[in-house]
Amino acid sequence: MISEPSVLNNAGQEISSAHTGEPMQQAITYEKIPTNIYADAKAASRAVAKEIAELIRTKQRENKPCVLGLATGSSPKTVYAELIRIHREEGLSFRNVISFNLDEYYPMEPDSLQSYVRFMKEQLFDHVDIPADAYFLPDGTTPYNQIAEFGRSYEEKIEAMGGLDFQLLGIGGNGHIGFNEPGSLQNSKTRLMMLDHSTRAAAAGDFGSLTKVPKKAITMGVSSILKARRVVLLAWGERKAPVIRAAVEDTVTEQVPASYLQLHPNCLFVIDEAAASELTRMKAPWLVDTVAWDNKMIKKAVTHLSLTLGKPILKLTNKDYNDNGMSDLLAQVGQAYELNIDVFNKLQHTITGWPGGKPNADDTNRPERKLPAQKRCLIFSPHPDDDIISMGGTFQRLHDQGHEVHVGYQTSGNIAVADDEALRFADYVVDFNKQFGIDSPEANRIFQDAAASLRTKKDSEMDTAEVRYVKGLIRRGEAKSTCRFVGIPVENAHFLNMPFYETGKVEKKPLGEDDILAVMNLIEQIKPHQIYAAGDLADPHGTHKVCLDAIIEAVRRLKASGADFMQDCWVWLYRGAWAEWDIHEIEMAVPMSPDQLMRKRLGIFKHQSQKDGVVYQGTDSREFWQRAEERNRGTAELYNRLGLAEYEAMEAFVRWKF
Ligand code: F6R
Repeated sequence: MISEPSVLNNAGQEISSAHTGEPMQQAITYEKIPTNIYADAKAASRAVAKEIAELIRTKQRENKPCVLGLATGSSPKTVYAELIRIHREEGLSFRNVISFNLDEYYPMEPDSLQSYVRFMKEQLFDHVDIPADAYFLPDGTTPYNQIAEFGRSYEEKIEAMGGLDFQLLGIGGNGHIGFNEPGSLQNSKTRLMMLDHSTRAAAAGDFGSLTKVPKKAITMGVSSILKARRVVLLAWGERKAPVIRAAVEDTVTEQVPASYLQLHPNCLFVIDEAAASELTRMKAPWLVDTVAWDNKMIKKAVTHLSLTLGKPILKLTNKDYNDNGMSDLLAQVGQAYELNIDVFNKLQHTITGWPGGKPNADDTNRPERKLPAQKRCLIFSPHPDDDIISMGGTFQRLHDQGHEVHVGYQTSGNIAVADDEALRFADYVVDFNKQFGIDSPEANRIFQDAAASLRTKKDSEMDTAEVRYVKGLIRRGEAKSTCRFVGIPVENAHFLNMPFYETGKVEKKPLGEDDILAVMNLIEQIKPHQIYAAGDLADPHGTHKVCLDAIIEAVRRLKASGADFMQDCWVWLYRGAWAEWDIHEIEMAVPMSPDQLMRKRLGIFKHQSQKDGVVYQGTDSREFWQRAEERNRGTAELYNRLGLAEYEAMEAFVRWKF
């Protein structure tokens, strides 16, 4: 059993894990699968790897093989990395391990870039001492008419080894486990499956485009998974939050195959806080356990009650509070009347058309200070278009209201440019140079090489350095175009090209010293009063998170160095294209009129390479401008449903207090 405690109690409040020594209890009322929540994927993965390592050692002591069921995808990578560490540093041997992987694309050659055989070798097998004949994966080269037989023999082999001691799982956004897509039956066995559109869309990044993702996969069935003696499912990031809630709290249904795990007697979900965010113990902890009613919890509860009942805050009654598990709150604060007014005012104070502070106004209850009246603002944009997509309205207002606005573009964003788009630009330069004989041999070489490589590039081949250069240049040009559109001088656009990003692949290098220094240098150069950063936790492995980590570390170091300007520097976090802050968390909401929203759309259009279907579309088929507008309109609508004024759209920020 995983023995390290989770970090949150039933009420979603932090407990000091180091002191309790026990895993937290479950929120029994709502949760039908034991679920441990950790602060982040790393801490969670350590606990899971420890359990696997202990199992392997126990089996070694008994002179028995340890039969593991393994998964691919992004979720288990941190577990495998920790297992490799335990192998290297603590001498864990894998000589008694026999493993069976859940699935493989079909058709798929084992040495292909995207094969799960290659994935498992790179992520685990090549780094530990598991014997080469002790791991098995569904064979993506099996002739079509032999797949049924292959499935049977795969299951027999598992049985012959004594069955799975431990099955590791990830979960698809649609609830799949293995590649058992929605509709899979409880008694399903190893077989060929058609992949869901959302599954293929999620894999499009690995293959370069959706059309290149195989349509089928061989997967172990639901019954094969349920037979394992122990099952641990991992989920990281906000994008998994809705499906985690469905699997853990709703009824068992073939529409969410992970919900079958409610039927398993020894299953554990190990998730991070972001993936847990839709569970009742996080969303409405007062329904699950006694909570401490601090200001934050009160705001969360009142807004939740108002939205659930569809009643503006100022119309909530004592009865509404009592009927919805909040009578202890009333007992503490008195009447609904006072409570309503207090929370309503707090929400009202978050709304401002002056994100840089309103000069000559009383700023006691405003999100930003009025002084200095003209601030230096530094917007960090992880990719070249996040500034305009996520905070375009605020960007424009800051400039229009006389602040000195700079943008730090953290990464080149080069992998998100389609090959044909890059070829169009490379050809343009090559043709231009041919005609006018531009005499820079190096420039000619770069563009000729890029054009030649793009013309012959095969599916799934990586971009050459020259191609990446051209793609980066395209995105840089688009970012500059947005800056001109907003009205800031292009000298205020700073391109950091953080090295961690420059792998040419979806998978990035870990954050390094050079990355942090690039961010630090820019902050020192601008000496901003305000920093805006993407606080997007939707994808914990993603570029936004790494970019935020770099900013946090840079700010921490500058603070520690005692730099004067840092004492006056406030950091505001905006969210990426996918999710918005929860309404109770928002500390500054900047409204937009219909015209301002339209202007923001035109600013997003400057990013032509990201229009009309992008390379990494993911499961959301909307264009970025559509996502941004729907989200900004959604925030305004929420404020309005709570009983505040009706705006067209709003951008939202949380202040990060370091
Ligand atoms: C992988 C597998 C899939 C993934 C799931 C989540 O072998 O069977 O079920 O576990 O698609 O993928 P990630 O972890 O990439 O979000």
